[in-house]
Amino acid sequence: MLEAPGMIRDGRLPETLVEAARVLRAGGLVAFPTETVYGLGADATNDQAVAGIFAAKGRPSDHPLIVHVAAGPRGTEALSRFAQPLPLFAQRLVQAFWPGPLTLILTRQPGVAGAAAGGEDTVGLRCPSHPVAQALLAACAEQGVAGLAGPSANRFGRISPTLAAHVAEEFGDALLVVDGGACDVGIESTIVDCSRGAPVLLRPGVITRAQIEAACGQVLRDKADLAAPDPRAPGTLEAHYAPNAKVRLMDARALQSALDILGASGAHIAVWSRTVLKQRSSRILQRRMPDDALAVAQQLFAVLREFDAAGVKLIWVETPPATPEWEGVADRLQRAAAA
Ligand code: TXA
Ligand code: MG
Repeated sequence: MLEAPGMIRDGRLPETLVEAARVLRAGGLVAFPTETVYGLGADATNDQAVAGIFAAKGRPSDHPLIVHVAAGPRGTEALSRFAQPLPLFAQRLVQAFWPGPLTLILTRQPGVAGAAAGGEDTVGLRCPSHPVAQALLAACAEQGVAGLAGPSANRFGRISPTLAAHVAEEFGDALLVVDGGACDVGIESTIVDCSRGAPVLLRPGVITRAQIEAACGQVLRDKADLAAPDPRAPGTLEAHYAPNAKVRLMDARALQSALDILGASGAHIAVWSRTVLKQRSSRILQRRMPDDALAVAQQLFAVLREFDAAGVKLIWVETPPATPEWEGVADRLQRAAAA
């Protein structure tokens, strides 16, 4: 078998997990797959290891990180280690969506994972469903590492990685990357703040508002409803998730007019649309966007990276439908366009 490039290792092999857990136990960094995007992991209770994440990403150290925990009894144990007892609506969310692409912001146990929490008195916890993530979390738990602090494995402000190769692009060959294939979900987890007495949506993902409300039996509030919205959550910055090329969102008609105006010119432009458009330039890079929101989420970051790699200067994207199942995709595209 051919050696994988750099430090990318097959996450299905037990020896990969043993090596990764050893690095993490020793305070090192390891990139790992989840069902949403790849994470850059460190022992959540080791403040020095966590400092290494902030340094590698170029992320301000007061931006809190999500702590990933194992499923089953280990997860229950980790929950009570990192967070104070959950309100009932949060327990219901755990029941309904863990393991899966949902992060809960909970009141933190004082003295635990302070650096990972960026000094907040809350902690973000998530139990990923990716089998390789779960196998790694179990191997870490065996070694006494109860949780992995893990932001998306990209440099600050850049697009999240959905392939092991994307992580290597961001951080080079020195980082051990556990390969779990292409991420199924493709955009980051839905984040619900459960530390304010009622559930508050901090970041939309593929789990819809209706699903959250049905599971927890409470109305989901919006960030805008909060008296003091937290300015520190970088996933909530207007401009984020940006490719190098300039992204513009347009409806199908505006897109068609723009293509008509270009005529036969149009180098360095890429178009991603659900609608089939007429164009006269073979120099425009065109890709069809699927009609299904989940399929678009899965491809979104990889498509933006491909367009960047092709060297385009402009990316024109058809505005997604304004329906609930598109909320996560629309959010990421709007942020990419705001950069
Ligand atoms: O799907 C995901 O959530 C991925 C994978 C790797 O799990 N992780 C991820 O992490 O997207 P990151 O660091 O790129 O985004 C985490 C978001 C940030 O906006 C951060 O501010 C917010 O979660 N967050 C984490 N802990 C928080 C806390 N205690 N209070 C408020 N926001 C928090
Ligand atoms: Mg991120």
